[in-house]
Amino acid sequence: MFGDGIYEVIPVYGGKPFTLPRHLVRLSNSLKEIRLANPLSDAAWTDLIAEAIARSGEETAYVYVQVTRGVAPRRDHLYPPDATPTVLVMVYEAPILERKTVTPLAMITLEDFRWARGHIKTVSLIAAGLLKNEAVAQGADDAILIRDGYVTEATASNIFIAKNGVLVTPPKTSLLLHGITRDVVVELARAQGLVVEERQISLEELENADEIMITSSGHETWPVGMLNGRQVGNGEGGVLWHQVDQLFQEFKGAS
Ligand SMILES: Cc1ncc(COP(=O)(O)O)c(C=O)c1O
Repeated sequence: MFGDGIYEVIPVYGGKPFTLPRHLVRLSNSLKEIRLANPLSDAAWTDLIAEAIARSGEETAYVYVQVTRGVAPRRDHLYPPDATPTVLVMVYEAPILERKTVTPLAMITLEDFRWARGHIKTVSLIAAGLLKNEAVAQGADDAILIRDGYVTEATASNIFIAKNGVLVTPPKTSLLLHGITRDVVVELARAQGLVVEERQISLEELENADEIMITSSGHETWPVGMLNGRQVGNGEGGVLWHQVDQLFQEFKGAS
């Protein structure tokens, strides 16, 4: 009733959860932020997720994990002191992760009217849903969100731009989700000698970027071909996107 819960989405490749320890750290941090005790140890989560994947029989998939506050005796804003958190684990197919086609996305910018705790991966996704649906209603695939003139993220992914050979992504503040794909990309790119700046991106800078890309567990890295009805770069994935994506695919293969 209160949207009072936390979730994670973990990609599965070759029947194995990808970067699971990072997801368990973020799950634990999100739960701490909403004052909900983590109901399972990392070892128990790891076993439960492995069992769910095995029972699904899927090789390339998503694992969805959700922890909500539990059953309360009545509807009350005050947390029930003795409730047992409800745990849900679900595995479902991930055709996007098979990457048969990578069609660049068309994005529009919309004002980020979500709450100011974007680093918490809460199941309360009403604002993200409104924004995504508004973008699609306007003929785009998704929205890049702007708060006080600066990019935060997209409705379910982080944003990178490339300008003059430099990758830029917004810093990990409480206004956006600290994406695991984002972190992996920053680390891989820097290890390869690419320059990555973590700093604010103004709307003007976004509109003048050579390349724009998104990162998420759902889409890995993915190019943006159109912004607000104008072509971004060559409209296809640019040089840096190709480079970053290759690094990501290699890392995935080696994981
Ligand atoms: C709002 C938001 N930002 C960013 C991301 C990307 O995070 P990750 O790379 O950990 O999937 C997501 C993931 O679903 C998200 O919902």
